[in-house]
Amino acid sequence: MGDQPVPDGIIDLSFAFFGSKALLSAVELGLFTELADGPLDAETLRQRLGLHPRASLDFFDALFGLGLLERVDGRYRNTTETDLYLDRAKPSYVGAWLEMTNDRLYPFFGALTEGLRTGQPQNEAKGGDDFFGVLYQDPARLRQFASSMTGVSMGTARALARKFPWAKYRTFVDVGTAQGNLPVQLALAHDDLTGVGFDLPALEPIVADYVAAFGLNDRLRFSAGDFFVDPLPAAEVLVMGNILGDWSLDERKVLLAKAYAALPEGGALIVYEQLIDDERRERAVNLLVSLLLLIETPGGGCYTATDCRSWMGEAGFRETTVEHVAGPDWMVVGVK
Ligand SMILES: C[S@@+](CC[C@H](N)C(=O)[O-])C[C@H]1O[C@@H](n2cnc3c(N)ncnc32)[C@H](O)[C@@H]1O
Repeated sequence: MGDQPVPDGIIDLSFAFFGSKALLSAVELGLFTELADGPLDAETLRQRLGLHPRASLDFFDALFGLGLLERVDGRYRNTTETDLYLDRAKPSYVGAWLEMTNDRLYPFFGALTEGLRTGQPQNEAKGGDDFFGVLYQDPARLRQFASSMTGVSMGTARALARKFPWAKYRTFVDVGTAQGNLPVQLALAHDDLTGVGFDLPALEPIVADYVAAFGLNDRLRFSAGDFFVDPLPAAEVLVMGNILGDWSLDERKVLLAKAYAALPEGGALIVYEQLIDDERRERAVNLLVSLLLLIETPGGGCYTATDCRSWMGEAGFRETTVEHVAGPDWMVVGVK
């Protein structure tokens, strides 16, 4: 008995979603926004959030134990990170991603077993509808989805503004821009860049509001289109962030061919996504994201940098490189 391995790791992992859901509920309740004005004792915080007394203390202390709150002399306050990123009143708020995850991904991931058995999406598009089409019929969900993309991609957008040699280029197009986060971050970091956010027409007012909030209308514009129907706008650099993984292999190749056609000689395509490592052993989180793409799309899934480089080569790109961007995101850059 003494030599037997213990099951603790297995049991711990079975609890992992408890922590995720506690964080998602804290964001839903506006807990970090409430604490942004200053520390509060448990009873005051409970009343402000409208919680029942039964489990509120355990909820707050669990968040403290998870490193999401600090507790000093019985009063709770945000950590530096939760204050910066989870206070709704701050422009650095990334909680829209957690709000969308709470509303959609958390319940949809509950159907993972059915998704694995059937190979079919388990979200709003269950039954064969087009996911973006269904989601975008509801203006509130569309806005939530677009701002959730800003939340999840913020770290990557800022890192990409530093890690790519933008000084060599003047123009870019962000293909599938969602709210326009990447164009805004690139324009904020590089005064000489002008850019286009390309996406489905429904995103136009959302991107317009977002770009205007940063006063960047003079250098950024929106271009409406369907990337399977319309040609992509031309620019020296094209970016496809979290795009190819939504689609089947044939569709990815169509998109890469369109990107190639829209670039001048010497232009660059940046593809960033949660790439799987070539050995398929290290980036477990990115493999789990691939399962999310099973839940969300009819034919999508994550892929490796080697896959992407070979598709880019087929499309005609003469030179490709791979680099880590931020968090789970890696980029493959192809030069025409
Ligand atoms: C997963 S989001 C990625 C958003 C952003 N690039 C990022 O990394 O956060 C995919 C984007 O592709 C857009 N999209 C989906 N189908 C499209 C189509 N047929 N034509 C143009 N854009 C499309 C969606 O509206 C959405 O904004």
